Amino acid sequence: MIRLETVTKIYAETLSVDNLSMQIAPGDFYGLLGPNGAGKTTTIRMITALTNPTKGKIMVNGCPVHRSETRFKAKLGLVPQHNNLEPELTVIENLRLHAMLYGISSAQAAKRIKELLAFAELEKKARAVVNTLSGGMKRKVLIVRALMHEPRVLLLDEPTVGLDVFARRKVWDLLKSLNTRGITILLTTHYLEEAEKLCNRIGLLNEGRLIMEGSPEELANIVGPVVVEHFSNDRTALHFFKSQQEALEYARSLQVEFNIRKTGLEDVFVRLTDERVSA
Ligand SMILES: Nc1ncnc2c1ncn2[C@@H]1O[C@H](COP(=O)(O)OP(=O)(O)O)[C@@H](O)[C@H]1O
Ligand SMILES: [Mg+2]
Repeated sequence: MIRLETVTKIYAETLSVDNLSMQIAPGDFYGLLGPNGAGKTTTIRMITALTNPTKGKIMVNGCPVHRSETRFKAKLGLVPQHNNLEPELTVIENLRLHAMLYGISSAQAAKRIKELLAFAELEKKARAVVNTLSGGMKRKVLIVRALMHEPRVLLLDEPTVGLDVFARRKVWDLLKSLNTRGITILLTTHYLEEAEKLCNRIGLLNEGRLIMEGSPEELANIVGPVVVEHFSNDRTALHFFKSQQEALEYARSLQVEFNIRKTGLEDVFVRLTDERVSA
């Protein structure tokens, strides 16, 4: 569905994305995870042709992605990192504006707006000026706007930054139900929890390079699916095991309090970064 082949982006002197190859299959909920400056926004901007790669190729549903191409655009919906709604227009006016830009007839737009506002539980805010909405509501309007032209793929750049826990959960629920209805999703985030909760595939981007990729289970299996955590010598230690039984045997020998659990993404990253630091 989306394919990047050895994509590199260099801005002046900065190597922003470095030889990135990745694929997103139909129905995937793909999480591109990475710290600030990793190249997440640049990747999304290249997939949506807001900027061209310096090298490499991007395809969406078999159509090449390039600023000079238009065919792929109808297939993609974009929720940008920063809110770019028209602040003095109402929710409905913003959605109509987007419909116009995509050449959607006003009758069809009206139908779609009604459906989407109901789906996102935004009906009561339809005539509210965007400026007066909370951060969570604005994010939902951005998602609804991106869905107006019925794209097959939704791309979201850090969609829950700045939201409180409740608003974040609402956005998560909205995205989960879209994915259940068949929309392919690519989301960037620097929150491990977000990627772990939502995504069936996760890629870890660091300094423009994809350093790990897989399902949450596959990533946990790299280090071991069961972890024993304990506090000793003034630091928290993590020990990874192939099975619950092996973990229990080890834990029984400990003289300190411990915690046995399934390996999470955070454990994987702590372990792998630890190796790098001590290597
Ligand atoms: N328009 C630009 N001009 C110059 N450098 C840029 C530009 N956009 C991004 N960069 C640089 O590219 C790198 C990756 O940035 P970005 O893709 O925004 O990362 P992320 O979204 O993961 O935080 C950073 O070092 C950033 O400073
Ligand atoms: Mg970014």
